[in-house]
Amino acid sequence: MQYKFNVKITTNTFDKIDGCSDLPRRFAGSMHANLLEFDMIEFFQENKKIAKVITEVAGLANYLWQKGWAERNAGNISVNLSELMTDNDFELDHFPMFQLERSYDALANLYFFVTGTGKRMRDLAISPMKNACIIKMNKKGNAYHIITMKKKNLYNFRPTSELPTHLAVHNLLVSTGSPNKAVVHTHPNELVAMTQIPKFQTAEMLNKTLWGMHPEAFVFVPRGVFLVPYILPGSHKIADATIEGFKNGHEVVIWEKHGAFAIGETVSDAFDMIDILSKSAQIWFMAMQTGNEPEGLNDAQLAELKEAFLKK
Ligand code: 13P
Ligand code: ZN
Repeated sequence: MQYKFNVKITTNTFDKIDGCSDLPRRFAGSMHANLLEFDMIEFFQENKKIAKVITEVAGLANYLWQKGWAERNAGNISVNLSELMTDNDFELDHFPMFQLERSYDALANLYFFVTGTGKRMRDLAISPMKNACIIKMNKKGNAYHIITMKKKNLYNFRPTSELPTHLAVHNLLVSTGSPNKAVVHTHPNELVAMTQIPKFQTAEMLNKTLWGMHPEAFVFVPRGVFLVPYILPGSHKIADATIEGFKNGHEVVIWEKHGAFAIGETVSDAFDMIDILSKSAQIWFMAMQTGNEPEGLNDAQLAELKEAFLKK
């Protein structure tokens, strides 16, 4: 299936974004009997820029699946939508609230698009609003309200298990005034495979090899990757380790034996960073398959690239 990134907002677009054409529907049942009806068609008509962002996410989810980086539910995506919201007047009490274990002070009252835990990228590509949601953080930044999920789907919907890392990264981005709004986590095969090889379990060796496989890897990822040694997925510990990398100016963090986390102004920008590095990793493996260790760019060639492209 093809997705256009620059879509015109039409009724069809809303159907695709919502993933269902039987809208609007009321949240039903007794537990959240006071939940507001959330009319997504109306919402996206008023928030066309958000509709565009979500269409871009759906396109990316399709790429991730096509690339083989999104087995089962692998990967997750979040985007800070706060600056795109036309109307911040939500009666939050009417939307289900979920307490967080930590407070994210810089995120108070902000809005995020977040993919759901256990959801498939290939499904997200077709029905983003069934497989992801928009959350609004509370005013203390220690809880969130899911504002878009229809009640009939809420019972088996929760944001990604990597929410601790996504929120920690957004907290850092917002508090430092970064223009980056998108956070993408995926399982790129060759990059993960490289971290299975002991000699690449230092950032220095990994970066030297990735840069050495193709000059563009240095041009577009001049700070290189930050490598996080294996830590339990979904934990605050891995979130803490990950933000160390972004604090130090990296745009890609590699989780040893697991995957990549990247930031960008858009999800496409974040994806590009991982894609470029993945290309280098693929070249390394292809060369190795010929029975030869690839030469890589030499120190003088890397120094020349550094001189030409590393922003002072
Ligand atoms: P979720 O389905 O919870 O997003 O987890 C996928 C994943 O890649 C965990 O690291
Ligand atoms: Zn993962």
